[in-house]
Amino acid sequence: MSQDVLSPARVNEIHKQAARRRTFAVISHPDAGKSTLTEALALHAKVIGTAGASSGKANRKETVSDWMQMEKDRGISISSAALQFSYRDTVINLLDTPGHADFSEDTYRVLAAVDCAVMLVDAAKGLETQTMKLFEVCKQRNLPIITVINKWDRPGLDALALMDELTERTGLQPMPLTWAVGISGDFRGVWDLRQDRFARFQRNNSGANIALTEYFTPEEAAETQGSNWTDAVDEAGLVIESNLEFDVDAFHAGTATPILFSSAALNFGVKELLDALVDFAPHAAPRPDVEGSPRPVESSFSGFVFKVQAGMNKAHRDHVAFIRVCSGVFERGMVVTQTRTGKSFATKYAQQVFGREREVIDEAYPGDVVGLVNASTLRVGDSLFLEGAVEYPAIPLFAPEHFQVARSKDPSKFKQFRRGIEQLEHEGVIQVLRSDVRGDQAPVLAAVGPMQFEVVEDRMAHDFSAPCGWNACRTPSPGFRRRTPCPRWPTCPAPRCC
Ligand code: G4P
Repeated sequence: MSQDVLSPARVNEIHKQAARRRTFAVISHPDAGKSTLTEALALHAKVIGTAGASSGKANRKETVSDWMQMEKDRGISISSAALQFSYRDTVINLLDTPGHADFSEDTYRVLAAVDCAVMLVDAAKGLETQTMKLFEVCKQRNLPIITVINKWDRPGLDALALMDELTERTGLQPMPLTWAVGISGDFRGVWDLRQDRFARFQRNNSGANIALTEYFTPEEAAETQGSNWTDAVDEAGLVIESNLEFDVDAFHAGTATPILFSSAALNFGVKELLDALVDFAPHAAPRPDVEGSPRPVESSFSGFVFKVQAGMNKAHRDHVAFIRVCSGVFERGMVVTQTRTGKSFATKYAQQVFGREREVIDEAYPGDVVGLVNASTLRVGDSLFLEGAVEYPAIPLFAPEHFQVARSKDPSKFKQFRRGIEQLEHEGVIQVLRSDVRGDQAPVLAAVGPMQFEVVEDRMAHDFSAPCGWNACRTPSPGFRRRTPCPRWPTCPAPRCC
C-alpha cells in the first residue's frame, strides 16, 4: 500500500501512535544495576512474572536480556535488543545496552536510536568513569537524561553531595522528582514531589516481586518518619532553590536532568521512574536526515539500522538487523529500499526480539524497534525507506584503542575465515584495518575494548567454523586504512581514526 497518500485519519493515527511512544535506554557504569533495573521495569510492566531468578549476578545467568554463551558464562550482557511493553496508555520501548565498558561502541549505537536515556548512578560510588563518558555522549547528541540514584538501600554517599558532584562534573542542573526518605542504607521510601506525598516502600521477597507501596500525606509522613521526612523535605528544597523547579523544556534541551531515587534490586522507585518517562520523556518526533531536515513522522515509512546481530538463534543461523522506525508505519511484508545500495529488501520476517523472546511484528510506528531476520545485506547505519528516499546520519565509529592481528588456525578454512571477519565487521563487532602489505590473510582488528576480541574468537569458532588465533600488533602505522570509511572523515577529531 502506498503511504504517500494517507487519509487524514491515518495521518492522525500515526501522530497519535508516535506521541504514545517512549523510546529509551538504561545506561550506566558497569555494576550500577542496569540489568537489575531492566528486569524491574519489565516486571512492573508485567512482562515477566518475577524479576531474575536471584538478585545475584553470578546466579542470574538467564535474565530477560542475556542470551549469548559468553554472556551466560560471564554473567555480562553484550548484545542489545528491545523490549516493548505498554504502561498506562503509553508504549514503552526499552533498548538494552551491553553491561561491559568494552562494548561501549554498541551502547553508543543504541543511543543513536533512542529519544531519551536513563542514567543509573550507584549511590555508593557516585559518578564513575563510564558514567562520565556516557554523560558526554548524551550531551553531544542532545539526548535528554533522567538520572536515577540507585542502590539507596545500601550505605552510600550523601544525597546533597551527589547532587553537587552531578552539577559540578556534568553541568546539568538536577531537578528532583522524588527524594529519598531515609539515608542511604536506610531506604524507607520517597517524597514524591509532584504529588506531594510520601511513598513508603515495603520489602517484598528480595525484589523478586513488585514492592508494595503505601502513600501518606506530608503530615502523616512527618508523624511516622520524624527527622527522616523533614531532612528529605529540607534537602530537596535546597536543591530546588539552588537550581530550578521542574522544567520539562530544560530536560528536553539536555541542560537539566530529573532526579529519582531507587533500589532496583528491591524494586523500590521503579514505578516512579516509569511514571516520569510517561509524563515527561520526549516522544518519537520528526528525525533530521543527513542534511539536517527533519522527516515528518507521517511521511512514508523510513528507519535506520542501529544494530546487526548474527547467531541469535543457533538453530537457524540468522542475522537480525534492528531498525528504529523514524517515520510512517512499518508493515510486515513491505518491500523497502536500502539507501546505501538502492536495492530492495523484503521484510517478510519481522520480529520483536528481547533476549530469547521473539514475537512476530505486523505493524510498527515511529519510535518502535523492528528486528528484521535474514538481513545479511544490511549494515549498521543503513537507512531504509518505502517511498521518498531518505538517508539518516551515519552512526559515528569510535577510535579503537586495542589492536590484534587475526590468523586462521586452520589454513584449509581460509574462505570461512575471510567471510567471518567480513561479517563481523559489517555487524560492527570489530573494526578491520587493511594493509596492502598484509592483505586478507592476517587482518589487523581494532577494538574499543579487549573483550571484543573474545567475542570475535568465539563467533569465528562457533558461527563460521573458522577458529582464529592472534598475533600481537603494535599500534598500526598510518599505512593502515579502514575498510569502511569513517563517516566523519576528513574532520574526524579522533586520534588514529582515519
Ligand atoms: P549492571 O547491569 O549495571 O552491570 O549491574 P547489575 O544489574 O548486574 O547489578 C550489579 C550488582 O548490583 C548485582 O549484584 C545486583 O544484584 C546489585 N544491585 C543492583 N541494583 C541494586 C540495588 O538497588 N541495591 C543493591 N543492594 N544491589 C543492587 P551481584 O552481581 O550479585 O553482586 P553483589 O554486589 O550483590 O555481590
